Amino acid sequence: STTPPAPSDRILILLKPDAVERRLTGEVLRRIEAKGYEVTALRMLTADPRTLAEHYSEHVSKPFYPSIVQYMTRGPVIAAVVEGERVVEGVRSLMGTTEPTTAAPGTIRGDLGRAWEGPAMENLVHGSDSPASAEREIAIWFPELAAAAS
Ligand code: TYD
Ligand code: MG
Repeated sequence: STTPPAPSDRILILLKPDAVERRLTGEVLRRIEAKGYEVTALRMLTADPRTLAEHYSEHVSKPFYPSIVQYMTRGPVIAAVVEGERVVEGVRSLMGTTEPTTAAPGTIRGDLGRAWEGPAMENLVHGSDSPASAEREIAIWFPELAAAAS
């Protein structure tokens, strides 16, 4: 029998609508796979506002939240679970900082993202910010993969 991966070694990523529109989903996944991580679940869907409110619960009351909803529901997203030793730290590092205009070159957001006209900050990719966030978010996007309650 195989041992399931420790929960701390999973991350939930979203390839946002701009990544799909700009045909960059393969490029983003390529960078994650090239680093040595494994994509273990993948799903394309159009996000609904209820799911987003759960996912972005820390941001729901912020002034920029309506622009997030408009951006994240304007087309399909790809949700994925990625696994590997210290994958949360590794993928967050690959992603770069939140604002794509100033994210470091060499990162996904820094190389591929920028500001556009309009209210939304379009930064191509979401990645959970901690192992606890990863488990919370995997339960939202992949309920069938949620860690068993203990
Ligand atoms: P946050 O969790 O702070 O960033 P990250 O995605 O790097 O973890 O914010 C979540 C998303 O909200 C972010 O990817 C883009 C959007 N956002 C804005 O549109 N405006 C803002 O001022 C901030 C902080 C975030
Ligand atoms: Mg975040």
